[in-house]
Amino acid sequence: MCIRWSLFFFLSLTLMACTGDSENATETAQGPNADRGRRLYLVNCLTCHNRDPAKTGATGPAIKGSSNALLEEKILHRRYPPGYVPKRNSAVMPAFNHLKKAIPDLAAYLR
Ligand code: HEC
Repeated sequence: MCIRWSLFFFLSLTLMACTGDSENATETAQGPNADRGRRLYLVNCLTCHNRDPAKTGATGPAIKGSSNALLEEKILHRRYPPGYVPKRNSAVMPAFNHLKKAIPDLAAYLR
């Protein structure tokens, strides 16, 4: 009986925690979007950027805090948003067209 009740409470707590999370999933750095973004970052960006996006990587600069607009321009078009001053003048980074739908996730992770 006691075990059943604690299980019930545990489950309701988990449920409450989950609902709270999904409400602002796109806002928090810990939400599911950021989680997907982190995985995509590890797979696609680590060759050049640092495992810690706040640090300079092997070839690429630190990119923590990159906005949605910056990521979209850089990842899909190899450009920068109007008026943006790039951290580097080089144009080494390739485009990643398959990440088109993942830009908001990457932005959530890099926030
Ligand atoms: C082949 C190496 C390479 C890979 C892979 C790569 N980058 Fe880059 N990235 C660079 C380099 C080098 C720069 C500096 C500008 C340039 O030469 O293109 C850069 C610049 C950037 C910038 C602009 C930084 C600024 O503020 O000026 C962003 C944003 C960025 N990368 C994001 C990413 C993301 C996200 C990924 C993974 C999807 C990624 N990069 C994968 C090499 C890479």
